[in-house]
Amino acid sequence: MELLQGKCVILGVTGGIAAYKMPNLASMLRKAGAEVHVVMTEHATQFITPLTFETLTGNRCVVDTFARDFKYEVTHVSLAKAADLILIAPATANVIAKLAHGIADDMLTTLVLAAKCPKLVAPSMNTAMLENPATEENIRKLKDYGFGIIDSAYGMLACRDTGKGKLPEPEELFAHIIKEIAHEKTLAGVRITVTAGPTQEAFDPVRYLTNHSSGRMGYAVAERAMLRGADVTLISGPVSLPPVPFVKLRSVVTAQDMFLAVQEVLPETDVLIMTAAVADYRPVTVAEDKVKKSEDDMTIPVERTEDILRWVGAHKQEDLYVCGFCMETQHLEESAEEKLRRKNMDMIAANNVKVEGAGFGLETNVVTIITKDNIQALPLMRKTEVADCLLDAIEQQRNGKGKTDDSCN
Ligand code: CTP
Repeated sequence: MELLQGKCVILGVTGGIAAYKMPNLASMLRKAGAEVHVVMTEHATQFITPLTFETLTGNRCVVDTFARDFKYEVTHVSLAKAADLILIAPATANVIAKLAHGIADDMLTTLVLAAKCPKLVAPSMNTAMLENPATEENIRKLKDYGFGIIDSAYGMLACRDTGKGKLPEPEELFAHIIKEIAHEKTLAGVRITVTAGPTQEAFDPVRYLTNHSSGRMGYAVAERAMLRGADVTLISGPVSLPPVPFVKLRSVVTAQDMFLAVQEVLPETDVLIMTAAVADYRPVTVAEDKVKKSEDDMTIPVERTEDILRWVGAHKQEDLYVCGFCMETQHLEESAEEKLRRKNMDMIAANNVKVEGAGFGLETNVVTIITKDNIQALPLMRKTEVADCLLDAIEQQRNGKGKTDDSCN
């Protein structure tokens, strides 16, 4: 299912040059499955035409409160009721002032006054206008009234000044929207630590031992947990994935770095999900200079790294929920169950890397979720879907429902 399937998003576009970024956002929202309506102020139509939005959203773009040539309904009320979220972007100093004082003198401001859904405002203007005490006071008021404020970005503005006041890029606005409405906040207040990616164990300044982990599974878990309202920390080995918005990222390199990072965050963690493919061995010594090749064969003495999960299992407080991952090529269930017991985990997600569509580097995975009293074999799924099933199962277990349901099968 698309991220915003069944959701109605209203974009309120006001008269700033950054309005040019909004068609891009409208298109991203539509691709994510949302029904998108755009409401523009008269001034906004000087910068960009309603036709652009109408073409992208498939919906009439509303400008004038008293337009009579479409739907026999009180538009501002019907749209306000249908909306799951309203984003006003770019929000000029003028519209911010109006909203802060309950003024409703056009379609957009009337609609916002009538709507009870979450409302986000992205101020965008010249730095001096933004820092004007009147604007600052109005933004404070909007926060008090429950509006979410998306901080403006820093950079060169259309007026050639450099400072704060730029409208963030559509990707960032999109991230704010999905954070707000993509999922019910079933993990609100829960502190989740996710580990992801490989670790690198150097044996000289230019070479290291590692594995093929891309980090995708862990990054998907971190994102989906964030969308459920969890407070997420992601401890990541070296990967080439972009950071997950609204997730605290701690970058590490070695298994030892990851061990120390996990130990540090553990007292503030309710759920630990170890997707990382931690190196099991590291070179005993790290050469100070690059090791030159010779005619002889080379042997690199290695030693075991700390088994982080095992350490956590041995030191675990009653209320910490621990989920590990493992990769098997044979006897999947037996091996995974043995690991679950040996490392004192609450859940293990096992995948057979020999199955098509499972394992490192792919967008998909084939996972079996095993707890002390249940085994749930999931079909081939995208890693984001696996993440959702895993979080569903963790939620059910933590809520004391024991057995996981089979909605993921
Ligand atoms: N893990 C860990 N510390 C390590 C190695 C692995 O915490 N030094 C964690 C991984 O993050 C993963 C789980 O342990 O959650 C994997 O368990 P492991 O026994 O290492 O699985 P395999 O690598 O599949 O083990 P084996 O080589 O015994 O098959």
